[in-house]
Amino acid sequence: MPPQDALVIVLISGSLRARSASSAAIATAAELAPAGVAPAIYAGFGELPHFNPDHDRDPLPEQVVRLRDLLGRARAIMLSTPEYAGSLPGSFKNMIDWTVSAGSLYQRPVGWINPSAHGGAQDAHADLRTVLERAGATIVEEACVAVPLPPAALTTDGRVAPPEIRTVIAGAMTALARAAAARDETTNASS
Ligand SMILES: Cc1cc2nc3c(=O)[nH]c(=O)nc-3n(C[C@H](O)[C@H](O)[C@H](O)COP(=O)(O)O)c2cc1C
Repeated sequence: MPPQDALVIVLISGSLRARSASSAAIATAAELAPAGVAPAIYAGFGELPHFNPDHDRDPLPEQVVRLRDLLGRARAIMLSTPEYAGSLPGSFKNMIDWTVSAGSLYQRPVGWINPSAHGGAQDAHADLRTVLERAGATIVEEACVAVPLPPAALTTDGRVAPPEIRTVIAGAMTALARAAAARDETTNASS
């Protein structure tokens, strides 16, 4: 368990692939989280059932409970996803659909790392913006970065190697942590 005052940032890769650039971006972002942040990687969305509003009631599927519990502890969320056929991977969007009625993303500061090797995946990220906005998330622009991650940029243990890209990822995590801390201050001041 992280220390009680730790700022929990949940990190999620939108790819289920073993040698995934998105997952490498997420693992690296977790490693480079600034002091005071407790990173928590969620890797369970491949096991989620297909979203069905009829099943969005108690008793909820166990995998959904786990997802919502983790997001409930998140003070911010970092995402990294590939683009499939001009949009978000279906399994990743399915996970987001399970969060909507619970308000898991509502007013949560969210950033993303676009790992497209060729500066692409623009359509997926336009869709991601739309989906996050509909879910009421707070998109932290300084925490939304694009870094080219071809296979050669990844280490054998699934991390990002180039120092200049690691610096960009660290900057995004710092921006996200700052936004989460600032949100907490505003919330405390108004309560
Ligand atoms: C079925 C499929 C469809 C894809 N469609 C697109 C696409 O529309 N646009 C794009 O930029 N890349 C597309 N790609 C490339 C992936 O986004 C790219 O390989 C990405 O690095 C995969 O992410 P990952 O390494 O995190 O698994 C597609 C890949 C697959 C397997």
